[in-house]
Amino acid sequence: MTEQNAYQVADWNGQSGEYWVANQARLDAMMAVFGQAAIEAAAPVTGERVLDVGCGAGASSLDLAARVGAGGYVLGVDISEPLIGRARALAPQDTPALFRVADASGAELPEGAFDILFSRFGVMFFDDPTGAFAHMRRALRPGGRVAFVCWRGAVENDWVRLPMVALKGIVPLTTPPDPEAPGPFSFGDRARVTRILTAAGFTDIAIAPFDASITFGEGETRDAAIDDTVKRVLEGGPLSRALADQPDDIRAHAWAAVRAAFAGLPGERSVMINGAAWIVMARNPRN
Ligand SMILES: C[S@@+](CC[C@H](N)C(=O)[O-])C[C@H]1O[C@@H](n2cnc3c(N)ncnc32)[C@H](O)[C@@H]1O
Repeated sequence: MTEQNAYQVADWNGQSGEYWVANQARLDAMMAVFGQAAIEAAAPVTGERVLDVGCGAGASSLDLAARVGAGGYVLGVDISEPLIGRARALAPQDTPALFRVADASGAELPEGAFDILFSRFGVMFFDDPTGAFAHMRRALRPGGRVAFVCWRGAVENDWVRLPMVALKGIVPLTTPPDPEAPGPFSFGDRARVTRILTAAGFTDIAIAPFDASITFGEGETRDAAIDDTVKRVLEGGPLSRALADQPDDIRAHAWAAVRAAFAGLPGERSVMINGAAWIVMARNPRN
């Protein structure tokens, strides 16, 4: 029998985990506006208890902790040892946030112990999303609420759509990727998210689009900013694997093609790319 989420556990403790730790400050800056939108949707108040799923380096957990205060509590869980290590290192001593290495889809969680189930881009990686949400729902009190942000589809997110189009014919891409396979875009289909949450026992599901312009690359000059953008997308994004084992000439060709695709985007000493996300809300029934 294969272990649940084995690929994700290996990746977030390996290549992706290392990339996210190395780029933590920049990634947090890029994701901040999306996390804030999800926190506004969650509307935490003093004294509430929050479970932050796939908390990564903990930026959202710490923001939530500041909102719930010393009478409240935030538990950040993540499968990635290096990211939980970074979260603990960044946490101020007096924060009411705690961090734990755990697979949220099956970890022992105290029953009915949380008011809010929250996530910033951390719930799209489960092998069995319905089973995972049903499991996490049991940790919510009756009437407790869900608020998370996830990406819409890859076709709506130019930071992956443009390079995918540019790389066609240069490297073999696994296109079309299975849109439901665990990964950043697996919650892109709003109807699928509704089905998963409904089957997991949630009610009052509301899913709204949220768009924000992300500073993807920066540099001393516009050219440097475009190079920075290409580097980020090809070294750390979902496309990084496509180039991993390619010879130098193919990599150079791919770099030039992706660079040309990004060169038309707005920005001065930056490259601004629209990020297309869903803000998802739901409720645990009161019984
Ligand atoms: C895109 S990152 C987002 C991290 C963080 N929420 C942020 O916004 O910076 C996705 C995170 O989900 C975590 N993750 C993936 N599957 C998980 C699971 N089954 N249980 C807990 N965390 C998981 C990964 O380790 C990773 O840290």
